[in-house]
Amino acid sequence: MPLPEQVVVHAAELRAEIERHNHAYYRLDAPTIPDAEYDRLFRELQGLEQQYPELLTADSPTQRVGAAPLKEFPPRRHGVPMLSLNNAFEPAEVEAFDQRVRDGLETIAAVDYAVEPKFDGLAISLTYENGLFTCGATRGDGATGEEVTPNLRTLRCIPLRLVGSGWPALIEIRGEVLIFKQAFADLNARQRERGDKEFANPRNAAAGSLRQLDSRITASRPLAFFAYGVGAGAESLPIKTHAELMDLLLSWGFPVAEERRVVQGSKGLLGYFAEIGAKRPSLPYDIDGVVYKVNRLAAQAQLGFVSRAPRFAIAHKFPAEEALTEVLGIDVQVGRTGAITPVARLKPVFVGGVTVTNATLHNEDEVRRKDVRIGDTVIVRRAGDVIPEVVAIVPEKRPMKPGKDLFDSEPVQAPFAMPTACPECGSAIEKGIDEAIARCTGGLYCPAQRKQALLHFAARRAMDIEGLGDKLVDQMVDAGLLHSPADLYGLTVETLAGLERMGDKSAQNLIAAIEKSKQTTLARFIFALGIRNVGEATARDLARHFGTLEALLAADAAALQQVPDVGPIVAASLAAFLGEAHNREIIERLQAAGVTWAEAAPAETGPRVFTGKTLVLTGTLPKLKRDEAKMLIEAAGGKVSGSVSKKTDFVVAGEEAGSKLEKAQELGVPVIDETELLKLLEKGIEE
Ligand code: IVH
Repeated sequence: MPLPEQVVVHAAELRAEIERHNHAYYRLDAPTIPDAEYDRLFRELQGLEQQYPELLTADSPTQRVGAAPLKEFPPRRHGVPMLSLNNAFEPAEVEAFDQRVRDGLETIAAVDYAVEPKFDGLAISLTYENGLFTCGATRGDGATGEEVTPNLRTLRCIPLRLVGSGWPALIEIRGEVLIFKQAFADLNARQRERGDKEFANPRNAAAGSLRQLDSRITASRPLAFFAYGVGAGAESLPIKTHAELMDLLLSWGFPVAEERRVVQGSKGLLGYFAEIGAKRPSLPYDIDGVVYKVNRLAAQAQLGFVSRAPRFAIAHKFPAEEALTEVLGIDVQVGRTGAITPVARLKPVFVGGVTVTNATLHNEDEVRRKDVRIGDTVIVRRAGDVIPEVVAIVPEKRPMKPGKDLFDSEPVQAPFAMPTACPECGSAIEKGIDEAIARCTGGLYCPAQRKQALLHFAARRAMDIEGLGDKLVDQMVDAGLLHSPADLYGLTVETLAGLERMGDKSAQNLIAAIEKSKQTTLARFIFALGIRNVGEATARDLARHFGTLEALLAADAAALQQVPDVGPIVAASLAAFLGEAHNREIIERLQAAGVTWAEAAPAETGPRVFTGKTLVLTGTLPKLKRDEAKMLIEAAGGKVSGSVSKKTDFVVAGEEAGSKLEKAQELGVPVIDETELLKLLEKGIEE
């Protein structure tokens, strides 16, 4: 096939770009694009070179495994080259691998595979001579690495002298240096505190830490190591399988993966993949897949190698968690409590197994720190079920205005500026001092907050209104049917049936669900109000403590703080909420509409703990003020009297109790203290 001009140009461009990324990744330990994007470029170049073999040059990046060794470190030629692994992503590719293995071994029987996690760190080779650690090197280009022995000596988990027995005079141990997730978080926190640059991920941090000219810096980094193979010296080991090799390495003092196993056939491989995938979030270190190796060493030798990788092993990788895409716009979203979150609208991109169109930018400071602008190419990350986020921009890809030269041009887009008014309701956006989050001050006037507040009100753990989902709430708020949760109880089948995609039957079901929600509990009701900082547990505590809504409404910040686990912040949120006339009005309207709970309808409940009982308070109670104690007793159905008589059921005595205590003792009236009173109250008022 003749070689078209544009193919030659494109291949040269790809090579230049790949070399640039190699430099950023291997030399600077600061990659500018996700691995998946690098792999895509690499495969594109490989594809071109396969299609047009005359394109292939000896110096093409496809012809080497990594990067040439750094000049700063002495080169170290590996006794046996450090190869790489081919990748599989789909079950079909794993089945094809298993088929190739069986074809190669001329067997139809299920093959035994040694399986283990694929550590996401950097490969190293450790040389031991007569059991002593003499030299350690990075992979480099596979044939020659950088010698970093003094740095590797600082890793406590690397034995300086092998323990046990059975090692040959010279052996190269292969494995991965990495940083555990928690240690990485701590390391970055330290970097941040010191004003030093944070690391992009544990792998880059590990690579950067290992390639330090001053090994004291390496020593200060939390590097870990796992062994997974042997280079030179393998042939003289008294073993037959990879699994035995792992046990041998363990016996010599090397850490090896606990999750290693032996499985049979492609079914076993895929089962292991699923198992480790499920375990991945709880593993203490990052993995990017699993590795399958034919277990029998003789079978490995029989299968041999193709160019850069063995035929007997393959890496089965998880879907990439990072991808590149373009920012189409930056919006802000308004949350239930008015929190404003900047969100990047993205050109749809497949990442972490799903198509992502939005990614959170967290808050204003984050957008500024990352300097994300419209038109930027960004790295998007979606790991597990977490919300997709913009990790960083790719600076080289930023659209620039034409200038007379590189230094003269400026970005097309200005830096992101947080709006000063809420995009939903126009109210001011404010940020408290020391607060990372800006908020819309519109409260329930803001339709966005109103929608969220309504959804929260209707949620299963709040008022539990089945069938009231976000589409419906959007429609009703936009149509002006719902201004507050109280409006829900004025809805009719007719009004609802007029809405888009709402049949008579669904309208009736929703009205029935709204009706049913009227009978609730005080705890659910308090939670449903959506008061900032008042979650389900706090709502339950409040209900238990105050017993009635009236008692809660009467409480000031000090009284609120008497509730276990309610501190000044929660008390302030509650006081602010209850201090708003319109919130009180909504509460009144909800009650008027028939929202009720057992505690407020004594007729429907059994007697409360102090129903029909008279108590007398005397002396100073340690925690409760006199009127608070009174309120609580009344909330529990009791009466508080000023004088002790034969009819008194309990006297609650505090410090310096005087004549009333004496009288109680005289008449044989039970005397309790505050602790006992609180215990009785707690027992008596359930949710
Ligand atoms: S075996 C000849 N086992 O993956 C096979 N490699 O693309 C040599 N890796 O550079 C590799 N975990 O750094 C092997 N359990 C594991 C591994 C593993 C991570 C890395 C290794 C290598 C890359 C291969």
